[in-house]
Amino acid sequence: MEKILTGIRSTGTPHLGNILGVIIPSVNMANKNEKHSSFIFIADLHSLIQVNNIQTIKNNTYQIAAAWLAFGLNAENCLFYRQSDVSEVTELAWYFSCFFPYQRLTLAHSFKNEIKKTNKEKISLGLFSYPILMAADILLYNAKIVPVGKDQLQHIEIARRIASFFNKKIGHKLFVLPNAFLQKKMMSVPGTDGEKMSKSKKNWINIFSSDEILKKQIMSIRTDSQSLEEKKNHETDYIMSLYKLIASLDQIEKMKEKYIRGGYGYYEAKIALYELIIHKFSIERKKFFYFMKNKSLLDHILDSGAKKAKIIAHKRLNDIRKCFKFNPLI
Ligand code: ADP
Ligand code: TRP
Repeated sequence: MEKILTGIRSTGTPHLGNILGVIIPSVNMANKNEKHSSFIFIADLHSLIQVNNIQTIKNNTYQIAAAWLAFGLNAENCLFYRQSDVSEVTELAWYFSCFFPYQRLTLAHSFKNEIKKTNKEKISLGLFSYPILMAADILLYNAKIVPVGKDQLQHIEIARRIASFFNKKIGHKLFVLPNAFLQKKMMSVPGTDGEKMSKSKKNWINIFSSDEILKKQIMSIRTDSQSLEEKKNHETDYIMSLYKLIASLDQIEKMKEKYIRGGYGYYEAKIALYELIIHKFSIERKKFFYFMKNKSLLDHILDSGAKKAKIIAHKRLNDIRKCFKFNPLI
């Protein structure tokens, strides 16, 4: 059976984009996959690049863990861990960084986007080499299937390049070439402003916030200024774009009719989306708050996942160290 692996950074509470794009499809695959062949982790080392408050990273780590479990991840069947608990990955990232061309990394979106917004002097080396650590996350376990959103495709491409470069250099297939797993409809869930929903843009819908905040977020979805009476375009409207990702076919058809007919306002459409979300995710929201109240349980689950992942990582890193004629880890 092929190995599945994915990670979410602990840079905030998982939003609807993370949930529809990655959490739900990964849980479906990981729960069906052979025991201990799926790797689901919280990328807290990657978070250090963006969040400078350590306590915030820790709190976010709990939120990400609670979200995965709320959506039904079977932590017994997979390896569910914090990236920082399996530090073998940082050694592998070093080997990769010694061979990967600097110039190629200057073309990575993560770096290019940041350079547009931030003074070069403030950009860390960690941000620059972000894709290298991500490649190590994947290649350490020889994962073949990597569920991600569209924004991560370039990173997977870099991981593939690194894998084939090393395989050629070593003369055998030490690394499996990973493939991104994307679902076309969900690969870039729009936020309240119609751009890709993202923690950094704060255009998110957070199903794990209180009813009141959730409603506020939904009410902030950008619309045009058409009046209640006018017929509306269900293909371009952002409320409808989100509704279509969650609702049943029957619900979508009914909503489309209301848009086409006119006499249906954006306020009503937002209320319909809010009620749909509350209804659709009521169990997951309850479970999330249960886990957030039981942080020692989350610690226990993540600690035991890390123990299992570490055994695999340790053995694998020793195989890689052999190629450099380094001694095995003690
Ligand atoms: P964010 O971009 O909000 O900071 P992360 O970078 O932690 O979120 O993303 C975690 C995973 O969720 C990645 O695989 C990413 O591609 C995916 N993802 C993030 N935002 C979206 C979105 N709007 N639609 C689909 N997938 C997304
Ligand atoms: N870079 C991913 C993000 O920003 C998180 C991540 C880190 C990841 N390592 C990974 C995703 C390995 C998939 C596989 O969301």
